Formats: sequence, C-alpha cells, structure tokens
Amino acid sequence: MSLPLDRVLLGDCLEHLATIPDDSIDVCFADPPFNLDKKYTSYKDNLPLRDYLAWCEQWLVELVRVTKPTGSILVHNIPRWLTYFSHILNQHAHFRHWIAWDAMSAPVGKTLLPAHYGILFYSKSDRDTKFYEIRAPHKTCRVCDSYLKDYGGKKDQMHPFGYLVSDVWTDIHRIRHNKNRDEHPCQLPIHLLERLVLMTTDEGDVVLDPFLGTGTAAIAAKKLNRHYIGIELDAMYKAIAEEKLAQIKAPTMYEGYPVSIYLDKIQSIRDCDAKELFPRQLTTQEKRRRKKKRVKQEALPI
Ligand SMILES: C[S@@+](CC[C@H](N)C(=O)[O-])C[C@H]1O[C@@H](n2cnc3c(N)ncnc32)[C@H](O)[C@@H]1O
Repeated sequence: MSLPLDRVLLGDCLEHLATIPDDSIDVCFADPPFNLDKKYTSYKDNLPLRDYLAWCEQWLVELVRVTKPTGSILVHNIPRWLTYFSHILNQHAHFRHWIAWDAMSAPVGKTLLPAHYGILFYSKSDRDTKFYEIRAPHKTCRVCDSYLKDYGGKKDQMHPFGYLVSDVWTDIHRIRHNKNRDEHPCQLPIHLLERLVLMTTDEGDVVLDPFLGTGTAAIAAKKLNRHYIGIELDAMYKAIAEEKLAQIKAPTMYEGYPVSIYLDKIQSIRDCDAKELFPRQLTTQEKRRRKKKRVKQEALPI
C-alpha cells in the first residue's frame, strides 16, 4: 500500500491512521487537543478524564505501530497529560527524552508558574534510532553583540557557530503577536518543529502529524526537504495548512544543508552539518603546540 505523501487528510486521525501500514513512517509528531476547553471549531475540548485518556491511548498505540523501527514518536503537551502519555508509551516504545520547552505563560493562582511545555521523545526500538545532535547559535547581547556567557576564559575553545542543545529549550518563543498567527487557538512556532525534524530525520524521510492544525509540522517538513502526511479534523484548518504549504516553493538551505532560519539567522543546524560548514578553529594551546612542533622539525639536521 502506498503512503499518501505530501497530503493533508481531512477527518478523524484514528480512521486515517488505520490505513497507514506498519513500520512505514520515520517520525510521528503529535500535538493533540489539551482537553482544556479551548475553542476549536469542530471539536469539544472538554471530555471526561477517562474518555480523554482512553482516546489518547488509541492514537498513541497507533503512532507506535506506524513508526519505522529506526523512527521516533514525539508528543507535545502540558506536563499533566504527558505523565499519562508516558505511562502508555512506556509499554510500547522506548523513552529517550522529556524536552522542556520554556514557554512562559500567565500565573494561575496558588500554583507554581507553569513555565514549560513538554515534548516526549520516544523511539520505537531501543537501538539504531535515527538521531542528530542540534546546534543553536551562541547567545549574544542585543546591544553590543558580545557573548552573554563567560566561557570560563576558554572562549577560543568554543564552537564557532553555537552550542549543542540540551533537553531544555529556552530560545524558541511562542507565537505572541496575532499578526503572526492563524485563526487557531494553539498554533506552534515553526522553529520548534524544524528543530525536532532536523533532530530525528534525514532529507526525503516522512513526518506524520495526526493533529495537524494549521500545518506547522508539515510546513517544517517541507521546508527541510522531507515528506509529510497531515491529518486534521477541521476543514478550515486543513485549508489554511494547504494554502501555507503551497506558498513554499523551495526548501530552506544554507550552503546545501537544510537549516532552520529565524530573523535571517540560523536557529538550528545539525551538528554533523555544522562540522562541515563551521570547521572549528584551533585553540591557543593547540596553535602553540603546533608552532613548537614546527620549530623542532625546522631545527632537525637535513
Ligand atoms: C493542539 S491543535 C494542533 C495545532 C498544531 N500543532 C499547529 O501548530 O497548528 C490540535 C488539532 O487537532 C485537531 N483534532 C482534534 N481531534 C482530532 C481528531 N480526532 N482527528 C484529527 N484531528 C483532530 C483539532 O482540530 C486541532 O486543530
């Protein structure tokens, strides 16, 4: 059975997932409704807890089934639901990371300020999972452009492009201004998805999102030269996604490598690509050692 590549499918994710063959997708990314009574146009976001979790279990198991043995399952949500999702996924896949995406929200009363969303990163198998380390640019002062971090006097040992990202992401902001967002209550920023896609796939791989909304995961995949399959229940969101996808004429490349660009600067790049593009300079110590060696060699009798 062939995959519906580079298409947005209208309808219920469970129905469409049932038509996707086992072991056929490189990465599944899911950003399901949060069941927090958000105002979707064709979906009631306030199911009783038991019904919500039973439904989530169904699509989580389906996502694992369709993922390739080398592939990953990524699930974005608030920590409360991720604890349940983790319990389900632990029975079918392999825990890799809980990525904390620092996205400050408003205080809600007598609780800790909810300052992060989580992204669960599970792999289908416990070996040979496709994974690429990501680099982000060093943080600099907006005014003077110098590095914000004092690298303990070892600035010359720093990577010329940027740091390897950890499992805490503080450099990707939520979409704040209405002018930058679609008619959707919880659209994710493209750079979040681009980083996840770069981290888990190669060019030509397939990214599936069963809750596509207005298309963020599919757009990230297309911009990075990957295939996508999106599923969305709401015809209006599907139409917006398709319109945005049609506007992408070419992938976002830097010197032949797909990268995530924000405000004309690279925001995420795979470490293996950065190695080619930004070769590391020699440290002062290394330069001194090389010089000494050269002097010694020159002193040798011919
Ligand atoms: C949290 S939003 C995803 C937003 C998306 N990540 C974006 O950046 O635009 C969840 C989406 O799932 C859709 N949805 C809800 N139930 C669904 C179902 N059973 N099958 C497919 N899509 C569904 C909703 O219409 C909504 O657009």
